[in-house]
Amino acid sequence: MVHGGAGALDNVKDNRTAVRYLDSIRRVLEHGREIMTLGGSALQAVEACAALLEDDPVFNAGCGSVLNENGKVEMDAAIMDGRDLSAGAVAAVDNIANPVQLARFVLTESEHVMLISEGAMRFADHCGMDRVPEHYFYTPDRVEQLKQARLKHKIMLDHDDTDVDSEDQKYGTIGAIARDPFGNLAAATSTGGIVNKRMGRVGDSPIVGAGVYADNETCAVSATGYGEDFMRSVIAKTISDFMFMKNMNAKEATEAGIEYLTRKVSGRGGVIVIDKDGNCSSGLTTKKMIHGWIEHGGEAMVRF
Ligand code: GLY
Repeated sequence: MVHGGAGALDNVKDNRTAVRYLDSIRRVLEHGREIMTLGGSALQAVEACAALLEDDPVFNAGCGSVLNENGKVEMDAAIMDGRDLSAGAVAAVDNIANPVQLARFVLTESEHVMLISEGAMRFADHCGMDRVPEHYFYTPDRVEQLKQARLKHKIMLDHDDTDVDSEDQKYGTIGAIARDPFGNLAAATSTGGIVNKRMGRVGDSPIVGAGVYADNETCAVSATGYGEDFMRSVIAKTISDFMFMKNMNAKEATEAGIEYLTRKVSGRGGVIVIDKDGNCSSGLTTKKMIHGWIEHGGEAMVRF
């Protein structure tokens, strides 16, 4: 399963824009299928799928990330392996085309779970990752969006022209979750965060249990939405706990998670979930969420 943001998506006014989003999601799903058909693991699949979404400038991650209060890109990402709960995460990084790959290096090449800012960038150098220039990330839409946010003195979400308190918003972030034929689960989430955010603000995406979670005994989860809501409700782990403690399947646990998110923090956004048996589910509190799935090797399905 993959997602590319939740919200009102009122910016998707014409059919061409909708097709553009959904084609991208379908292409990424098929890429993930191919990796696992060729024997790749769920972890490899989610890393590759998340990297493809980061490379697509229409999504708020990697190239096309939103800008902070200083007009700079600061990105967060995480990846988690359900086999042993190993995880890697980075926060407030810049000049890295694919933060999810840096998160993967944190998982495999370091003894830590999370590295931030300059320390994460030094680790990227140590791992031999290329630095890309700042202009690689900027798109005209993101520059305009920051201008609007500054005019309104607001923090804003992704690429709508509305603020966090409005109904008419889109919460950016991308995510990929997978179960491979060996029953292993993995999850990855990556984001530019929210428009005009304070320098140093970190959202839910790189926080294990909030924006990302994977455990072979329960499920894989990736979230998209207003990060503060997801951190406060620890939504990804909460959904996993519903499965572990109440023996729920993907659909039941997603519904229970969304009910909890709404009741406790009036949470804004959505989640994608695959349970240990390969059942796919999604839930949202916003009007829409760009997402898609391939269930039990079937056809790729894409949806707002
Ligand atoms: N969910 C993305 C963020 O709040 O940063």
